[in-house]
Amino acid sequence: MSAELWQRVMRPGEGQATLFTLKSSVQLSDGRLIELDAQGFLVCFQGQLKAWRNECPHAGSPLDWIPGRFFSESGEQLVCHTHHALFDPLSGDCLSGPCPRGLYALPFRDAGDGHVEVPVQADLHSGRAE
Ligand code: FES
Repeated sequence: MSAELWQRVMRPGEGQATLFTLKSSVQLSDGRLIELDAQGFLVCFQGQLKAWRNECPHAGSPLDWIPGRFFSESGEQLVCHTHHALFDPLSGDCLSGPCPRGLYALPFRDAGDGHVEVPVQADLHSGRAE
């Protein structure tokens, strides 16, 4: 990933999340590439940062019904509000619910001054940022 493909976002506080926009591309069966808007989110849990795509591995919907609200009521898990799958905030593992796998991880790097750099673009189906 080249340097111009990073964007700066606010570092979330403990138990909070920062939502951000991603560009994704999908290759159609006829070979055409289409660009889609997607989202990612950065969480801070137990003092650690993690970045995830805002796409549930069950049915592909965003996890948050209220934009930016990802944590369960207990504050211990991330929840997909569509069918209530629960995920570990640090590993992204599916803890319960219909999710067939864990969350799709995104890279990130500390930018200092209360900010974090996250990717501008992520591949929609690989689970890896480009
Ligand atoms: S879409 Fe997330 S649990 Fe079904």
